[in-house]
Amino acid sequence: MQIGSVHIDSPLVLAPMAGVTDIAFRSICRELGAGYTITEMVSAKALCYQDKKSLPLLRLEEGEHPAGVQLFGSDPVCMQEAAEIAMKVSGADILDINMGCPVPKVANNGDGSGLLKDLDKACRVAEATIKGAGGKPVTVKMRLGWDKGNIVCLELARMLESLGVAAITLHGRTKVQMYSGTANWDYIREMKNALSIPVIANGDVFSGKDAAHILKYTGADGVMIARGVFGNPWIFQQAKAAIAGEPIPPLPPLADRCDVAVKQFEMAAQYKSEKIACLEARKHYAWYLKGVPHANYWKSEISRITTLEDVYRVTAGIKRELKDDDHDR
Ligand SMILES: Cc1cc2nc3c(=O)[nH]c(=O)nc-3n(C[C@H](O)[C@H](O)[C@H](O)COP(=O)(O)O)c2cc1C
Repeated sequence: MQIGSVHIDSPLVLAPMAGVTDIAFRSICRELGAGYTITEMVSAKALCYQDKKSLPLLRLEEGEHPAGVQLFGSDPVCMQEAAEIAMKVSGADILDINMGCPVPKVANNGDGSGLLKDLDKACRVAEATIKGAGGKPVTVKMRLGWDKGNIVCLELARMLESLGVAAITLHGRTKVQMYSGTANWDYIREMKNALSIPVIANGDVFSGKDAAHILKYTGADGVMIARGVFGNPWIFQQAKAAIAGEPIPPLPPLADRCDVAVKQFEMAAQYKSEKIACLEARKHYAWYLKGVPHANYWKSEISRITTLEDVYRVTAGIKRELKDDDHDR
């Protein structure tokens, strides 16, 4: 996939997910085959007001390329300034504009999917962001439209392409749908046929097979995976195999998944305080443990993790129990 001047070796993209795709998790996904990763969304306003909490979200791992940063906002002046700051601070290759976030706090403020209600403003935001990104490609991630009576994705994508936007990711749902129903891949196919720039397909890819299917069905240049990575960053290996028509590798055994969870905690603790890293990575640990015996007990243990010592203690307990279960058989 070629996004502006940036070449991406693989069609497999890790979705931006606030509270999920931090630097540690992105690193794990890249090791397992994600060809392109994007930060969690960052508020343009917060960057313009020099909010210190937002800057760490822009940090990329050394060697994390090609990588994108994602901004949300709807004030063109602020987006231009935020784009300058974001590209300077992060050293990212691509800047993505969020035109899809359905969270009321964001969308009702005119940001995220709120921009789907005002296409002229969306275009002004894109133009200003392109100016601020200093020559680096600017992409847009959007939903179909605000609601099913207002599907604007094709019209908006054409406008954005003519302004110089370098690629579009389309999540096949409206804002009002949030995450209900199923993603409509037909619009993604239509968008791919309508545009010359790359189109990245997004929505309801929960397995390697789904990834191969959406690429074939839509003809899109890339596939972006979000919820399908919860507890399964191996989905990138599985997708690679499915696309190549090779046998799909199974999920690794639980003990190995625990090891990856521990690695994620340790890595996160290098970039954040140990406590914050532990609080944020807890949910990942619970996801990794799908299928563990006595899941409720271990999930409640995980919900009390606040230090790396706790991580090691809980993990030793899980592994002991897995061994005992093996002996019982
Ligand atoms: C917990 C969570 C956080 C998300 N945060 C973002 C975000 O920061 N920026 C964004 O563009 N989309 C965000 N999304 C939307 C996803 O990137 C993706 O478009 C959506 O989940 C559909 O893909 P999926 O069916 O593969 O999950 C988020 C989704 C989830 C579940």
